[in-house]
Amino acid sequence: MMKPVIAQFLGKCACFVFISLLSLQVYPCFGQGSGKNRYDRFHVGQIWLDTKGDTINAHGGNIIYYKHTYYWFGEKRDRHHSLGVSVYSSRDLYNWKQEGLALAHSQDTASDIAFGGIMERPKVIYNPKTKQFVMWFHVEVRGRGYGAAKVGVAVSKRITGPYTFIRSFRPNGNMSRDMTIFVDEDGSAYEIYSSRENYDLRIVQLTGDYLDVTSRDSLLFSNHREAPAIFKHRGKYYLITSGCTGWAPNAAALRVSDNLYGPWKLLGNPLKGKDSHISFYGQPAYIFPVPAISGNKKNNKAQSPRFIYMADRWNPTNLKDSRYQFLPVTLDTGQPMPIEIKWQDNWQLN
Ligand code: GAL
Repeated sequence: MMKPVIAQFLGKCACFVFISLLSLQVYPCFGQGSGKNRYDRFHVGQIWLDTKGDTINAHGGNIIYYKHTYYWFGEKRDRHHSLGVSVYSSRDLYNWKQEGLALAHSQDTASDIAFGGIMERPKVIYNPKTKQFVMWFHVEVRGRGYGAAKVGVAVSKRITGPYTFIRSFRPNGNMSRDMTIFVDEDGSAYEIYSSRENYDLRIVQLTGDYLDVTSRDSLLFSNHREAPAIFKHRGKYYLITSGCTGWAPNAAALRVSDNLYGPWKLLGNPLKGKDSHISFYGQPAYIFPVPAISGNKKNNKAQSPRFIYMADRWNPTNLKDSRYQFLPVTLDTGQPMPIEIKWQDNWQLN
């Protein structure tokens, strides 16, 4: 028998209200800026929560883009210890999902990456020839403070790991502390590293499989610099470094060159705004070239290059609580400072 129309209507309404209440319970904060899409912009220097609501713990690292997803690698820290290398994933660079530990410290006390030692400034790159992800990082050996001054290499078939540690060493016998990895347009990769007690900044080309260094190892300059971060724009290389004052902030310096092996021309501090003389209380970690998103249908124009300056605001009394400074690099600003990094409390990628 057919129900009267009014009863059918009330039944549908009740069902709708019930489902709505249910979804409110499941997603209590939907639309209120929490959960999966908590952020719609970068909040510079603020506590940054992952999609589970935990503070992101990925310092001194880098971001790579792979299969429509961004992956952020960084040092996992507790108050003082190094806890390995963590990895997060994101679709929009604002909201990050914890993917676990990409590289853990070894339980074997004889290992160069034994727990109690230090892993810093991890950088992951993809090798299309071997189809492997390769991680390079600064290694300090348990019980030796910052005395080992080595670089480590680990490898994985899966981007999120777990990575297998291969070995750590001093490139061509040179000390290697703060470092970064740069892959040029032709696919050749380089380690840029602080050497000779950080008085020298050096470069060495990696082998084609990215698992070792070659003998193309050269001094760039001797200026007591560290925390190198580099990018290429319109055929020129831009290299930002910090001074050497440990966890304490200092002024950054920009150098430019037509050639990775130099000569590098010193241009001064590219950071602009309040506290730029102490890098907004931060230290460079990496410069991420944001990939052009194809099909910018709005104006059908090719997207201009975009780079994100990634820096750490260290908290030496609780390293885990160190904050991040992701800021846009303003390009083509003319002479004498052809690029600039201006402080912003928050910003959106355009
Ligand atoms: C900084 C370096 C950091 C960390 C720290 C230890 O100069 O950039 O990565 O090594 O020293 O004091």
